[in-house]
Amino acid sequence: TSYKAVIPAAGQGSRMKAGKNKQFIMIEQEPLLVHTLRVYQEDSSCSGIVISVNPDEMDTVRSLIQNAGITKVEHVTAGGKERQDSVYLGLKCLSGNPVVLIHDGARPFIERDCIHSIVRAVEPGIGVVAGVPVKDTIKRTKDGKVTETLTRDELWSIQTPQGFLLQDILKAHFMAERDGFPATDDASVFEYTGYPVKVVTGSYTNIKVTTPEDLILAEAILRARRKGE
Ligand code: CTP
Ligand code: MG
Repeated sequence: TSYKAVIPAAGQGSRMKAGKNKQFIMIEQEPLLVHTLRVYQEDSSCSGIVISVNPDEMDTVRSLIQNAGITKVEHVTAGGKERQDSVYLGLKCLSGNPVVLIHDGARPFIERDCIHSIVRAVEPGIGVVAGVPVKDTIKRTKDGKVTETLTRDELWSIQTPQGFLLQDILKAHFMAERDGFPATDDASVFEYTGYPVKVVTGSYTNIKVTTPEDLILAEAILRARRKGE
């Protein structure tokens, strides 16, 4: 099955403290965002890409895409205040009812096998996300005190891609926006409407480059991959 990719890249990267949007940080000769786009560019099942970017970064992104030979981008659209807004604006650029994979611009190491498992598992009314079992024990805290220890076996760190049929996820975002329901990922938006979401095992290397130490990890992942080739 072919699919469309929606890539939110309209954040500020404030936790990275790089003084600019982290999407433009160079990791081994190429900006973070270009690494991510390249995965979808090179996957023959991906039939088109939509990117949400900050309005004042549109020209920068357009020229990056062009210079990198990324030809599948159908729309570069203005993002919004929250990630949720940026994704919704990106989704609205698409039509028909294709499978859409929503994937963070800041998650460059996604593997093609994972993408394809997600695409295969999407069904009408069913969302599919990548995730990995958490390694640490997770506790709920309040004012520096533990209030609850969660059962680790049941906990997963959820990643992107997250796959849905376009019309299902559009409906879900419509309802979430209407009701002011906030979410940090699209599956939560989907769950809010009562739809089920399946988890496919992703990979611990599918990191979201978020804080400065993630850049060290990112370089190491690329080095390891080069050796493995
Ligand atoms: N994103 C977006 N629009 C926003 C906020 C985030 O498109 N209003 C995108 C980011 O560019 C990123 C992805 O959503 O690719 C995941 O968000 P996150 O890792 O939180 O990135 P930032 O919001 O940029 O970082 P921070 O939260 O540290 O400021
Ligand atoms: Mg953010």
